[in-house]
Amino acid sequence: MAALIELKNVTRIYNVGARTLYALRDVSLQIERGEFVAVVGPSGSGKSTLLNLVGGIDQPTNGEVWVDGTRIDTMDENALAKFRRNHIGIVFQFFQLLPTLTALENVSLPMELRGDERKNRRARAEAMLARVGLAARMSQLPSELSGGEQQRVAVARALVNDPPILLADEPTGNLDSANAEGIIVLLRELADAGKTILLITHEANLAHAAHRTIVMRDGQIVAQPFPVES
Ligand SMILES: Nc1ncnc2c1ncn2[C@@H]1O[C@H](COP(=O)(O)OP(=O)(O)OP(=O)(O)O)[C@@H](O)[C@H]1O
Ligand SMILES: [Mg+2]
Repeated sequence: MAALIELKNVTRIYNVGARTLYALRDVSLQIERGEFVAVVGPSGSGKSTLLNLVGGIDQPTNGEVWVDGTRIDTMDENALAKFRRNHIGIVFQFFQLLPTLTALENVSLPMELRGDERKNRRARAEAMLARVGLAARMSQLPSELSGGEQQRVAVARALVNDPPILLADEPTGNLDSANAEGIIVLLRELADAGKTILLITHEANLAHAAHRTIVMRDGQIVAQPFPVES
């Protein structure tokens, strides 16, 4: 069966003034269903560019991006938005919770956008928050939660529509080591429960929970060990 995520000879060029910058240079990559893949590499090596292409937030200059058997880099904006809602959850480095909404309301949002019925939304949001260990804090505003708790709300929100894929761009970037470890343990549990996860981290010691680690440098994958059985 085809890989759940596949990049075929993907190049992403930025034109900065008269300069041509290769954020990604002829990158090919396959990620199987249920894999937990960590991406490491120095700042500017193309990690976020890679994740944004997989998430359909950005388009390649050349090459193809396939997700779950569908080519997404040529989709129009509406089709892509719909596809993303059902297939991909994204957690960003800096929390993007809406500050005036409670944890429960933040987590309910993707279901509202999808048009789910109100009565189903509440039960499902509560279940997701319980899943990330926040059953007792659902009515808090983001400002009333710790950094680690806010990031867990962001994970719950990314997963509430039950997408098969979770993309996380340095989700532990501004957490202390105990909270960072908590998020990584949570991601591993989600992988064990069948989610396919792409995690960007520049802290190599957080990549240990992944099935495999991809190393990037200057817009290319420079090391990509075979998936290990686990
Ligand atoms: N919108 C943009 N315009 C111009 N250049 C960009 C743009 N976005 C990214 N780049 C460049 O593309 C390259 C790759 O950037 P990217 O954000 O993918 O790196 P990264 O590996 O995620 O780095 P970091 O660890 O700092 O987040 C960098 O040289 C960056 O400056
Ligand atoms: Mg980045």
